[in-house]
Amino acid sequence: MSVDLLFLNNKDMEKLGVGDMNAAIHDVERAYVLTEQGDVLAPGKCVMRWGSTPEDENIYGRINAMPGMIGGEYNMAGIKWIGSGPMNYKKGLPRASVTVVLNDPDTKLPVCIADGTAVSAKRTGASGGIAMKLLSVENAKALTICGAGAQGRTQLEAALIVRPSLETVYIYDIMKDRSELFAEESKAKYPNVNFVPVDDPEEAVRKSDITVCVTLANEPIIHSGWLKKGSLIMNMADFEVTYDCVRKADKIVVDNWETIKHRLVSTVSLMARDGLIKDEDIHAQLGEILCGKKTGRENDEEIIYFNAVGTGILDIAVTTRCYKKALEEGVGTVLPYWE
Ligand SMILES: NC(=O)c1ccc[n+]([C@@H]2O[C@H](COP(=O)([O-])OP(=O)(O)OC[C@H]3O[C@@H](n4cnc5c(N)ncnc54)[C@H](O)[C@@H]3O)[C@@H](O)[C@H]2O)c1
Repeated sequence: MSVDLLFLNNKDMEKLGVGDMNAAIHDVERAYVLTEQGDVLAPGKCVMRWGSTPEDENIYGRINAMPGMIGGEYNMAGIKWIGSGPMNYKKGLPRASVTVVLNDPDTKLPVCIADGTAVSAKRTGASGGIAMKLLSVENAKALTICGAGAQGRTQLEAALIVRPSLETVYIYDIMKDRSELFAEESKAKYPNVNFVPVDDPEEAVRKSDITVCVTLANEPIIHSGWLKKGSLIMNMADFEVTYDCVRKADKIVVDNWETIKHRLVSTVSLMARDGLIKDEDIHAQLGEILCGKKTGRENDEEIIYFNAVGTGILDIAVTTRCYKKALEEGVGTVLPYWE
């Protein structure tokens, strides 16, 4: 018996709607809900890090393996294999490169190998968007994005979908030319929004209803005194905000607490390591709020800290949607996997 495998490159994925942020938000919400319903397998990330410290990782890079199985209407297993080359920009290459392998959950055989680079950026934007929808004030007017990279762009896209009330977006990056470029690009794309590149995040954060950090910082760039009442502070990567930002928050919300503790790079995970945060201090995972088991934002006064680590099932959900469409529309290259 022969077995075929479908190969989907970046262009195929584009044709299959990987860029559709509304669809990504739907997939990611379903993945969170299915997680709460126990209909997933989501073992921790396996991190293959070059060098010996987190600082080394930001120079020499890493490749992470993120396996998973998602049930429900997706019913698919697989793995996300994500390389991070922090110095790739010097060669004109993206920092993150992602390959997703999908496996039939019954036979366990691979059925698809897809470029997952856009999947990863979209699903992280979608996670951020879901957090903003559940945890930010409803009429949010100002947003600060720290980190003018691939993820900063999808955070913006999702933010403008879930919070169309946003009028001003401040952009901060350690490399000024990057925040300026991002602002310029965004002005052309969203002419009704005011984009302001800033040299220092303080004033911007003080005015913002939502601050999202998607940087490579491993020393805090955001301080608690800057957080205004009713704001949402989103720590989407490593040690980007101070311990005091977490202490100041009325609620701590996460995407997946066990994975966050295992990955041990974000502010709240370091606090857990240091015995400063206990499991019971975590108000909710996003899925619990989506299922109605826990509350999201309850008033316009509370400060909420959110941290996302990301799990492979999010990428598997988005890639499965594209794969099913590829089968219907005959997109991609069929490879004879087993003859
Ligand atoms: N939570 C998740 O699910 C998830 C998913 C994907 C990526 N990430 C994380 O998001 C971060 C950004 O990813 P990306 O693909 O956009 O990377 P990128 O390299 O495209 O962009 C990162 C940007 O951060 C800037 N930066 C670096 N250090 C900074 C600092 N100290 N202060 C301000 N800006 C700084 C860089 O100049 C760059 O413009 C990474 O740390 C990545 O690991 C998180």
